[in-house]
Amino acid sequence: MRTPEPFSRCPRSILPTRVRVDRRSLLTAFGLLVVLGAGLPRLGSAQIPEEFNNLQVLPEEIEQRQLVGVMRGFAMGLGVRCWYCHVGEEGKPLSEFDFESDEKLTKKKARFMLEMTQYLDEERLPGLTEVGDRADPAVRLTCYTCHRGRPVPRTLEEELGHVIAEEGVDAAGARYRELREEFYGQGAFNFGEFTLLNVAESLGGEGRVEDGIEIVKLNLEFFPESGFSYFALGEGYRMLGEPAEAIAAYEKAQELVPGNPMIGRRLQELQAAAEEGGG
Ligand code: HEC
Ligand code: HEC
Repeated sequence: MRTPEPFSRCPRSILPTRVRVDRRSLLTAFGLLVVLGAGLPRLGSAQIPEEFNNLQVLPEEIEQRQLVGVMRGFAMGLGVRCWYCHVGEEGKPLSEFDFESDEKLTKKKARFMLEMTQYLDEERLPGLTEVGDRADPAVRLTCYTCHRGRPVPRTLEEELGHVIAEEGVDAAGARYRELREEFYGQGAFNFGEFTLLNVAESLGGEGRVEDGIEIVKLNLEFFPESGFSYFALGEGYRMLGEPAEAIAAYEKAQELVPGNPMIGRRLQELQAAAEEGGG
């Protein structure tokens, strides 16, 4: 059996047969990144080779200035530095890097991603016009569109779900605080009111109601006026069969989100049940 060539095979396996992406068009597709790179502090491009020997997706005739712009786009898009993909050490001059080498798996994945992104941006998305039309101006797909400044573009829910599965709810709380500290305001994660509520809901769905309540309480630390969090808390206590706590939480929710029929209905149900039980 023939061993598949990793780079020529993998990326194209997502392409319909016979589509061949024009390597030259990348210069336009990534023009934006070049522009973006131009505004940044100048990188010692004297330290970077003028000629490139291992370009498999970017056009061979790309100028150094353009290539550096594309590379900065990668680095910023993923929130990493050159050594994340290239053989070389943080703090060492770039002249000591071996940019040609494909030793790092991250570089090989980045090449796959480059081809995928180019295919989607250049070949697939324009097809939207056959459905109707495109956003005006059309949205350009770049590494940043998905990655938002991180190498593995997980959502916050996924990130926490993963930690919960491996290490439990307390560790997830610690991770949330850490990530918030590091990334708040950078658009990498959604630290809004509903992320932890989504996580709590999934936990509730798995029957892990107590864990869900812990996550809602964590949310209330950051959103103390969140009526939806109190509602979620009420749901949790109701599911646990703790009506007094549930009623208190629903009442707080009602105070914060007045007139919500769902909250009103829950309160009525619980109060009626309490009267029956008490009477
Ligand atoms: C996310 C991964 C990633 C990051 C970060 C990255 N590169 Fe690259 N780089 C690549 C890939 C993939 C290629 C090969 C592209 C191809 O095959 O067309 C490449 C190719 C190169 C080459 C051409 C090597 C040759 O001779 O073929 C140079 C030079 C280079 N990068 C410099 C840089 C510099 C400088 C930085 C930091 C500003 C950087 N790269 C950051 C992935 C990355
Ligand atoms: C359509 C969304 C999307 C776009 C666009 C995209 N990526 Fe990715 N990328 C992903 C996803 C999803 C993963 C995680 C895949 C997995 O392992 O499950 C990933 C993983 C990676 C990884 C592996 C990271 C690691 O440490 O394992 C690298 C490197 C990477 N992308 C580079 C790039 C570069 C460079 C670009 C732009 C040329 C790009 N990506 C564009 C979605 C995207």
